[in-house]
Amino acid sequence: MESKVEKQGLEELKRMAAEESVKFVRDGDVVGLGTGSTAKYMVIALGERVRQGLSIKGVPTSQESADLAHKHCIPLLNNDGAWAIDVAIDGADQVDPQLNLIKGGGGALLREKIVAAAARQLIIIVDESKRVPVLGHPMPLPVEVATFGWKSTACQIEQLGVKAVIREHGGQRYKTEAGNYILDLQIDRITDPAGLEARLNVIPGVVETGLFVGRTHVLIVGTPRGVEIQTAANR
Ligand code: A5P
Repeated sequence: MESKVEKQGLEELKRMAAEESVKFVRDGDVVGLGTGSTAKYMVIALGERVRQGLSIKGVPTSQESADLAHKHCIPLLNNDGAWAIDVAIDGADQVDPQLNLIKGGGGALLREKIVAAAARQLIIIVDESKRVPVLGHPMPLPVEVATFGWKSTACQIEQLGVKAVIREHGGQRYKTEAGNYILDLQIDRITDPAGLEARLNVIPGVVETGLFVGRTHVLIVGTPRGVEIQTAANR
């Protein structure tokens, strides 16, 4: 039997979460613009508010988001930083009950983490299929690595007891906007996301991981029952 979620359609749930998120944006804000199919609805909704008179500036987390922002008349700051980002709004591939995330399915994790770290508030928008009790399988953990010596980097990562698969696209190795590769790590259960992030970050060649630990302030989930909002404890 078709589930309720399938019936209503994940797209509709993403759009609901995205439209709720732009209510958090105030006149004069600098807004981090996430990347992906959910963030796309947020940029469109933000563009609508700009057309109605809202004055904001955006910091895009990818060229794709920059192009979409241009199309919807959202003015952008340049890529040099240092920006005073009031709120960043982005999607995620998985969210655990502590609001830790796996991101990077779309390959924009490096810019996404830089923007999240520069923002006073990070709002994550997802449909309810992204909520999991523990991060990990079936979602791989993306890790952006330097192209130079990437196989050595992969070997060192595999010494942590995980399998690292080089990401490919159209029969070629996938390259990020920064010109790096992505290794997708197959991990059953990430029971200690902070510990894993720390162990990965000290391996030479690792540029950034798709683990976002302790960064989310507000989670907005589109569900067939309506929008659910969860605020992180202690943040
Ligand atoms: C981009 O690199 C990712 O981090 C996305 O934010 C994440 O994969 C969520 O994308 P969707 O909203 O398309 O599922």
